[in-house]
Amino acid sequence: MKGLILAGGAGSRLYPLTQVMSKQLLPVYDKPMIYYPLTVLIAGGIREIGLVASPQDLPRFQQLLGDGSQWGIQIQYFEQARPDGIAQAFLLAADFIQSGPVTLMLGDNLFFGGDALPRALTEFQAGATIFAYHVNNPECYGVVEFDQEGRAKSLEEKPVSPRSPFAVPGVYLYDHQVVEIARQLKPSARGELEITDVNREYLRRGQLRVTRLSRGFAWLDAGTSSSLFEASAFVQTIEKRQGIKLGCPEEAALRRGFLSELAFEELLKKMPACEYRDYLASVGVEISRGSAVAA
Ligand code: DAU
Repeated sequence: MKGLILAGGAGSRLYPLTQVMSKQLLPVYDKPMIYYPLTVLIAGGIREIGLVASPQDLPRFQQLLGDGSQWGIQIQYFEQARPDGIAQAFLLAADFIQSGPVTLMLGDNLFFGGDALPRALTEFQAGATIFAYHVNNPECYGVVEFDQEGRAKSLEEKPVSPRSPFAVPGVYLYDHQVVEIARQLKPSARGELEITDVNREYLRRGQLRVTRLSRGFAWLDAGTSSSLFEASAFVQTIEKRQGIKLGCPEEAALRRGFLSELAFEELLKKMPACEYRDYLASVGVEISRGSAVAA
């Protein structure tokens, strides 16, 4: 399985925050937003990751994340000249995806809790797997409707009158067919290659699996100033209460065995003295003592 993170887009809903800074580099409490989806991919065992960004922001992502080797992974970068739609990522990264499978994550979506995502990544075989999450504003998202047997019946992008309260979060698992499906797409009325149209095609082929995320699982998106603020408050609350940090790629890489304990220690030596380093040092001690709690 490969991973693809979408970190392009204009971030216009966050203006003026995004006037000189990419949305996905803005802080969510104590880390850049991009750390959170990246950590989900690493925790799910994915080592080969592609990142799509605009030409002006791409160098800043490269500066922050490098080639990934510091975390025992490989990161490749793909320029998206214009925000022509989420599904365009499959065309830009077609050579990287090759014969698939691939997990696409939206760079402004944050996921916390449970093992639904790592499990789906491990168990994925073919077709497409997407998720459904009960929200109070489904009209802002892709919406999935279920039939009486709980099977996906329809998918709509930001419907004015949603047929269900279940939104489709920004994490999608696809097999090799996704590139060919993306090649057939036509731009929508808003001029974008829509991810919902990719999912519709898998539904039409009878190859779409929709997993409902349980109560207590947290999905937040940080695309507006109030949702960005709420996401920061959420992360702060959990981190303070539990004494753990969310969205640390170093920690996920160590727990996954992508980094040896020695390489992890070397990595910490390169960080300035700060709370983040102190936290990682405590994780390293826990793991070497074999007393670590599950990630
Ligand atoms: O957050 C989940 C929702 O994301 C889904 O429920 C929707 O079906 C899906 O269309 C998408 O809706 P949004 O309108 O919220 O997507 P947005 O334009 O905010 O883009 C999501 C991320 O993808 C964001 O990090 C920017 C990036 N992006 C977006 C576009 C359109 C790109 O990198 N390139 C693009 O061309």
